[in-house]
Amino acid sequence: MDRRRFLGSSIAAAGSAALGRSALAAGEGIQPQGQVPVAIAAAEIESARFPDGFLWGMATASYQVEGAWNEDGKGESIWDRYSHGVGHVKGGDTGNVACDHYHLYKQDIALLKRLNQKSYRFSISWARIQPAGTGAPNQKGLDHYKRVMDAVLEAGIRPFCTLYHWDLPQGLEDRGGWPNRDLAGYFADYAGILARELGDRITVWAPFNMPWAFTYYGYGIGIHPPNRAKFSDFLKALHTVSLAQGESFRAIKAASSKATVGSAYSMAPGYPKTDSEADVAATARYHAMNNTFFLHAALKGEYPKAFVGQPPYEQMGLKAGDDEIMRAPLDWVGFHYYTRRIVSDAGGTKGGGLQYGTEIEADTGDTNGRDPYTRFHAVMPTEGPLTHAGLEVWPKGIYDLVIQISKEYEHPSIELTECGCCYMDTPYEREGGRVPDDRRTAFFKGILAELARAIADGARVRAFHAWSLMDNFEWTDGYSQRYGLTYVDYRDQMRTVKDSGLWYGRVAGSNRLVG
Ligand code: FCB
Repeated sequence: MDRRRFLGSSIAAAGSAALGRSALAAGEGIQPQGQVPVAIAAAEIESARFPDGFLWGMATASYQVEGAWNEDGKGESIWDRYSHGVGHVKGGDTGNVACDHYHLYKQDIALLKRLNQKSYRFSISWARIQPAGTGAPNQKGLDHYKRVMDAVLEAGIRPFCTLYHWDLPQGLEDRGGWPNRDLAGYFADYAGILARELGDRITVWAPFNMPWAFTYYGYGIGIHPPNRAKFSDFLKALHTVSLAQGESFRAIKAASSKATVGSAYSMAPGYPKTDSEADVAATARYHAMNNTFFLHAALKGEYPKAFVGQPPYEQMGLKAGDDEIMRAPLDWVGFHYYTRRIVSDAGGTKGGGLQYGTEIEADTGDTNGRDPYTRFHAVMPTEGPLTHAGLEVWPKGIYDLVIQISKEYEHPSIELTECGCCYMDTPYEREGGRVPDDRRTAFFKGILAELARAIADGARVRAFHAWSLMDNFEWTDGYSQRYGLTYVDYRDQMRTVKDSGLWYGRVAGSNRLVG
């Protein structure tokens, strides 16, 4: 057995240990030698069907696309401050202009319509609404989003609003940022303003994009703004955000009777490295920390078993009665899928603890020895092909993840809030200026075939949002990564729908993974 086959079979064994027998009951087995083990059979792609009314969508986020960073009374956000500093973002890029979506939203929404999209997931910039994060709303900011929503509704598209996609008003960071418990209340005020002002237009709300990621990157290891690296701050931020999730849930519901509230978590299914008890237990802790921490807090009013022993309640700042504040019976569950992790126990090794040994997640050398609580090591394997961002393409992971969440949380209604891949294809003159990004189309074919399989096996998935409508500011990688289904020429803001976008538009029009 060569190395590829050996790893393939150990991953399959590990996967069934983590996810339970029936999750893998469809029995894909190991692919014959010489084939990429992740390839999904053409017959599975051809026969995949999605239900009537399935919500095909695309996603963006305010800081990544809007630009207009200081227009119409907008305050400074932590991403403005960070990207304006030297040495933080690749190439010195900033989101000052980005895709200029703030001004070009009408043409971008027309594009969504042209591609048969049914749902547009976007985020609101808190600093446009409350420039310093608290106090009276900025009317110009509200009016802007009202106009955008009117255009979305006019196009027959469902608006899906994320309240917070990482661009905290700098004024709130100046008050201590997310480790400061007061932010839960400020966030609820902001949520109430949005639901009151926009609740006639928006009915689908997700408080936070990837809450684990922005707390860990921003406060645990300092690779995103506000660039702080203190594990105890990360623990406090986790708790504030989960209080904020509960508080905002109630604020939205109180202000808008039509509102439904869910989530936009980041999730990557974990597979134990070996079938040892220690690795299986570490995988369960990883799943609880990386995937379900905030979901569990909301649905159960307690934290899942992400830690060895009791959660470090004192360091997190937990107070009596917080379980009731955290609790929020979400109407639906939203999460992203990009790739998977192989997890092992880090208990005995020096520096054991929360570690993400991947190229993209974080260089976690930093956390060595500073997290005595979770003691797992999660790495992204490289058995499948890698995208230009270095992420492994692993379509079967979406099936496993959707089935696992369905089982663990009583078959909720699920929305895939993001899924996508970075490839650098550009317009090609010899092909009439088209963008022949076949690898992206192949990525979505595999993923969507596996999603259709999960739906056929009973998962209640109602929406899928591709990341992203267009190339945009990819955080610390600036404009050096392209995730869009539409190509953006940043010199003149010309949009060119890539071949993958045209294909996805046909999928959205037919509920099949056509041509
Ligand atoms: C997700 C983020 C999104 C984008 C994609 C590539 O983790 O939510 O903003 O950066 O990754």
